[in-house]
Amino acid sequence: MQIDILTLFPQMFQSPFGSGIVKRAIDQKLVGVKIHNIRDYTHDKHHTVDDYPYGGGAGMVLKPEPIFEAVEAIRAAMPHQPAVDGLTVILLTPQGRLFSQQIALELSRYSHLILICGHYEGVDERVSQYLVTDEISIGDYVLSGGELAAMVVADAVLRLVPGVLGSAASPVDDSHATGLLEYPQYTRPPLYREWAVPEVLLSGNHAQIAKWRHEQAIARTRERRPELLEKANLNLRERQLLDKVELNSEGPDSGGR
Ligand code: ADE
Repeated sequence: MQIDILTLFPQMFQSPFGSGIVKRAIDQKLVGVKIHNIRDYTHDKHHTVDDYPYGGGAGMVLKPEPIFEAVEAIRAAMPHQPAVDGLTVILLTPQGRLFSQQIALELSRYSHLILICGHYEGVDERVSQYLVTDEISIGDYVLSGGELAAMVVADAVLRLVPGVLGSAASPVDDSHATGLLEYPQYTRPPLYREWAVPEVLLSGNHAQIAKWRHEQAIARTRERRPELLEKANLNLRERQLLDKVELNSEGPDSGGR
């Protein structure tokens, strides 16, 4: 997968993509991430990227020309022009569809994403109408630009690309991957202060452990995000469990907050 990001602040991307899983995936050439400065696609002396809004009002609006030219240059430079359905051009904006694990999975199936970071009071509407194929918001709040949103989207998508998490880890149990929150995790020591790891996890009984984890995922989702259960596609046995299962009694779920 290739992700190209168009931004006015390329330096913001150095640290999130310069460490951890994403950096490793880039180094191993499993994915390519390229940051483009929108200002490089201007032609005037002052490298103007924004202008006053027609009709008046506060703030500035990002001009369409450098954004169109940047996307066209990226497409022209690609060694293989992907099929139309291999590429999607996404504008990060609080007006977009709300990002979710489902959307991350959908985007991970494209071979090429172009992410455009909006700024100021907005982006000329012709970018949305004639260039962009998708608009995404990462939440119902307003950031000072689309950069942090692009990082969130790129990170969530890239870790789903086959091979990126390595063979040992798998995204299938992640919170939200199943429609449920993830079960609680423990590591050594088995007793820390007076807090013990649940007995079943030390039992070596894989069937019992899988059952306990599944019940905990259901109970935790019921406690923290009950609205997710409506969409979670639970079978009859799981629905019955919903009423019965007890949350792991120690820890943050037990009302200690
Ligand atoms: N730009 C500003 N706020 C945003 C948000 N919530 N999501 C995506 N892009 C944004």
